Amino acid sequence: MIDSDLKKQLDSIFNTAVDGIITIDDRGHITTINPAALRLFGYEKMDDVIGKNVSFLMPAPDKERHDKYISNYQNTREKKIIGIGREVTGLRKDGSTFPFMLGVSEVKMADKVMYTGIIHDITYQKEAEEKLRRYALELERSNRELEDFAYVSSHDLQEPLRKIRAFGGLLKEENFEELSDDAKDYIDRMLNAAERMQNLISDLLDFSRISTRSKPFQKVDLNEVLGLVLSDLEIRIKETNATIKSGKLPIIEADKTQMGQLFQNLITNAIKFRKENENPLIEISCELSQKSIHISDFPGAKFYIINIKDNGIGFEQKYESKIFNIFQRLDGHKYEGSGIGLAVCKKIANRHGGDIYSQSEPGKGSTFIIKLSEKQNIKS
Ligand SMILES: Nc1ncnc2c1ncn2[C@@H]1O[C@H](COP(=O)(O)OP(=O)(O)O)[C@@H](O)[C@H]1O
Ligand SMILES: [Mg+2]
Repeated sequence: MIDSDLKKQLDSIFNTAVDGIITIDDRGHITTINPAALRLFGYEKMDDVIGKNVSFLMPAPDKERHDKYISNYQNTREKKIIGIGREVTGLRKDGSTFPFMLGVSEVKMADKVMYTGIIHDITYQKEAEEKLRRYALELERSNRELEDFAYVSSHDLQEPLRKIRAFGGLLKEENFEELSDDAKDYIDRMLNAAERMQNLISDLLDFSRISTRSKPFQKVDLNEVLGLVLSDLEIRIKETNATIKSGKLPIIEADKTQMGQLFQNLITNAIKFRKENENPLIEISCELSQKSIHISDFPGAKFYIINIKDNGIGFEQKYESKIFNIFQRLDGHKYEGSGIGLAVCKKIANRHGGDIYSQSEPGKGSTFIIKLSEKQNIKS
C-alpha cells in the first residue's frame, strides 16, 4: 500500500502535469485520466471518458489498429509503442484532430497489468515545422527560378547582346569617319549601354552561382583571405590614399572563394563611397558571439561578428534593408556599379549560417556587420 503522503504527491503530479496522462487496463479501457488530458481531448468530465476503450480518442485508422496493438503486444511482447514513444494523432470530442507524442509504459501489479500513456501535444511544433517546410520549398522554388533565369541570360540574352556590340564595334572601326557627329555620339552611347548591360548580366550570373557553383566548406583563415583581397586592391588603395586597419580574424569553416568575394565587395564599397575631402579609413574588427541568430542554429553554436567600418559618405538608416536587394543603389548616378555587391554578400553570409546588416549615418560613415557561423552543420 502506498502511504498517504506519497499518494498526495502522485495526485498532485497527476493533476497539475502540463502533459496529459491516461491509464488503461489490459483490455484498453480507460481507468484514469488527468485534467490536462481531458482538456487536450476536449472533454469536461472524467465520467465522459472513464471506462471507455481508449481507441475512441483516436481517429481512423489508428482506432482500429489500437486494439490489435494491445493484443499483438500481449501475445508477442513486441514493443511498438511501449517504452519507445511515437507520434500519433488524437481525436477531440468535437471531431477535430491534433498531433501528439505518446509515451507508454507498462505497470505490472500483483494481480493485473496497467498501461500509462503520457500525451505531449505537439501542435505548435508541427505548425512550426510545416511553416519551415513551406518556407524551404518556396525558397527552393525561387532559387530555382533565379538559376533558370541565369541560364537564360547566359545563353539567350548574351547572344543578341554580343551581336549588338560586335556590329556596333564594326561601325565604329570601319565607318566612323563617314558618320555625322550626332551618329558618332549615338554609336558611342549605344556601345556604352551594351557594355553596361553585359556587366549587369555577368554580375547577375555571379549572383546566381553563389549557390550553384559553391565549393564545399573547409577551414578558412580569414586573415589570409583578407590579405589576398587587399593585395588585389593594392592599386586602388594607393590611388585613394586609403588606410585599412584590421584586428585578428578567426579561422572558420567556409567557402574560401566566397569569403574573398565578401571582403572584396565590402572593402571596394568602403573605398568607392568615400568622402571627397577625406582619405578613406577602413577598420576591420572581429568578436565572438554565442547568441542564436539564424534558423540553422544548433545548440552551442559559435558565431563571429565582423565589423567593417568606414568614414565614407554613409546613408540614411532607413535604406538599410533596401541596399542588400539585388540592383538597389542609393547614389546610382554618381558612382559606378550595378548594385549587386551587397546582395552577393547577403547570400554568402546566409549560406554560411549567418547574416549581414549595416549601420550608417549620412556624412559620418557606415559599418557593415557580418555574422558568420564558426562551423557549418549542414552541407549545402
Ligand atoms: N560603404 C558604403 N557607404 C555608403 N553607401 C554604401 C556603402 N556600401 C554600399 N552602399 C550603398 O549601397 C548600394 C548598394 O551597394 P552594392 O550592392 O555594393 O552596389 P554597388 O557597389 O554596385 O553600387 C550602393 O549603391 C550605395 O548606395
Ligand atoms: Mg559594390
